Amino acid sequence: MNTTLKLTLITLLALSVAACAVTTLPVSSLRGSDAATADVAPAALSYGGKKPGQGELIARAFKGQPPLIPHSLDGINEITTTDNDCLDCHITDEYRGKKMPRVAQSHLLPAASAAAEPELNMRRWQCNSCHVAQVEAKPLVENAYQGIERR
Ligand code: HEC
Ligand code: HEC
Repeated sequence: MNTTLKLTLITLLALSVAACAVTTLPVSSLRGSDAATADVAPAALSYGGKKPGQGELIARAFKGQPPLIPHSLDGINEITTTDNDCLDCHITDEYRGKKMPRVAQSHLLPAASAAAEPELNMRRWQCNSCHVAQVEAKPLVENAYQGIERR
């Protein structure tokens, strides 16, 4: 390498280092916090809602959406393949004399006869992989989206 080229390269390097030093801006994330500080997990919120039967259904956001769970899940045990409290209320349209929204037909096995008890299709046993309970949380960004009206 000849001396002129070496000198040019050194000058360029010095210039870019100087440029960087002048234009250095503090790095921040889109949410505005200092990217260098450790992430702080948001406070854990507990699932809300009134007791089943005391609230209202939540409008669906789009056709075919698994409806959101509008009620609290207090006292409802974890769902297993053999034990599912949700079905106490939702396998039929009535429980202890009260009207219940019955699981969609898509959730049931074809009935052997008109008089047969409805039987859950086990592809759907894990209700909460599609239906989710709600918390009263502030949206991270403003959103004016409106769900579709209920049928
Ligand atoms: C004690 C009875 C009861 C139990 C147990 C129960 N629910 Fe409900 N559920 C209801 C009632 C009643 C409604 C109608 C809304 C209301 O009045 O709270 C409802 C509404 C819903 C809806 C909304 C339906 C729609 O068309 O918008 C979903 C989804 C749902 N429940 C899922 C579940 C799941 C999943 C579980 C188990 C984790 C469960 N529920 C446990 C009684 C119950
Ligand atoms: C794979 C996803 C999925 C699973 C798992 C699932 N659902 Fe659903 N559910 C849906 C969808 C999607 C709908 C909307 C109707 C439809 O398209 O079948 C629905 C509808 C419903 C409705 C409202 C019925 C109506 O006609 O308005 C109830 C109640 C319900 N499900 C309860 C349950 C319960 C209880 C379980 C667990 C035993 C369960 N679902 C498991 C996806 C699911």
